[in-house]
Amino acid sequence: MVQPERTAETPTTRAVGVSLRSVSKSYGATAVVRDLDLEVAPGEFVSMLGPSGSGKTTTLKMIAGFEQPGAGSVHFDGRDVTDLPPERRDVGVVFQNYSLFPHLDVGANVAFPLRMRRVPGQERAERVQRALEMVDLGGYERRRVAQLSGGQQQRVAIARAIVFEPRLLLMDEPLGALDRRLREAMQLEIKSLHERLGVTVVYVTHDQEEALTMSDRVVLFRDGAIEQHGSPREVYERPSTAFAADFLGDSLSISARLLPGGLLEVPGLPAQRFPLGTGMPVGPVRLMWRPHAVEVTAPSGLPAEFSADRLRIPVEVLAGGYAGDVTRLRVRFAWGDEGVVATPSRGIDHRRGSSVDLHLSLASAVLLPVQS
Ligand SMILES: Nc1ncnc2c1ncn2[C@@H]1O[C@H](COP(=O)(O)OP(=O)(O)OP(=O)(O)O)[C@@H](O)[C@H]1O
Ligand SMILES: [Mg+2]
Repeated sequence: MVQPERTAETPTTRAVGVSLRSVSKSYGATAVVRDLDLEVAPGEFVSMLGPSGSGKTTTLKMIAGFEQPGAGSVHFDGRDVTDLPPERRDVGVVFQNYSLFPHLDVGANVAFPLRMRRVPGQERAERVQRALEMVDLGGYERRRVAQLSGGQQQRVAIARAIVFEPRLLLMDEPLGALDRRLREAMQLEIKSLHERLGVTVVYVTHDQEEALTMSDRVVLFRDGAIEQHGSPREVYERPSTAFAADFLGDSLSISARLLPGGLLEVPGLPAQRFPLGTGMPVGPVRLMWRPHAVEVTAPSGLPAEFSADRLRIPVEVLAGGYAGDVTRLRVRFAWGDEGVVATPSRGIDHRRGSSVDLHLSLASAVLLPVQS
């Protein structure tokens, strides 16, 4: 397991460390979480990312106690909580549909967890006020939930989740229903809340950008298991599988073949052999580059060539789109591989059917196994 980076400097005594040990869960005959191990350090912000149905919500519910694992155990600060009901786990939970009480006003919604804990009236009112101020809704106590915007309702849900000062905050796609601008604003608010409270956060999203911007660590799910986890930079720049590479963002990749002796054969340059130190087995591989690692120039009209670690390969432009700082191009190699690159350069013809030269450094390529 990679050691989370934040542990040492995390300022809080309130945050809890979570570990899932060999956790499995099935519904009927279908295994939806398979032998999962996960460590979340106290105060860490971990995002669980992955396609629909990959087991993120189920895993979150097992941490919260709303679902029981079929096998394995859940630990908070080393203590086994697998058999502890949700209300005794001291966990704040925010789900996508907010689940606010529509007939209660904002103050009563936020006060609810404190009532459950029999916090006396005066203290309750003070804590509700503080929690609402935390989410920039100071003075909203008497407002009706139905009269709030989606973003405001979302913030009420967050206030309700933090008002009893949980040691762990679990959020399941809390921003899914919001438009892009509000979502980005709320991402920053949740981040800053995390820093102010020093609480441990486990955050579920299927939006890779959201996971990359918000987290100390990203855990990528696939079919009920962890495909890869690491810091946002690690998982983005160094994906360990083609699935991780594709899920985490745009890329360009070419299919190649590893030969005995660590030599690499690239389809556009069949006569060439590139020395490549690697422990991977002989056979088909993918060489992958993120858009920022690829240089794009106007077409030279020359065939592909290799020199000093760099490949220059002409490609056909399939589509081009101006995206502010850069132009994104979808390109195709002569042998069929397609991918996305980005170029700031003017003077590039990005119309469909035009051609450009790509400059690819072998040193910056990520070598991915090809799955059968
Ligand atoms: N109560 C249930 N009964 C039966 N099957 C369930 C139940 N809850 C979840 N599943 C199944 O378990 C699998 C994992 O579901 P889960 O909700 O954990 O996925 P997810 O990663 O959160 O997906 P999404 O991104 O769509 O929210 C899915 O195939 C789902 O249909
Ligand atoms: Mg889900």
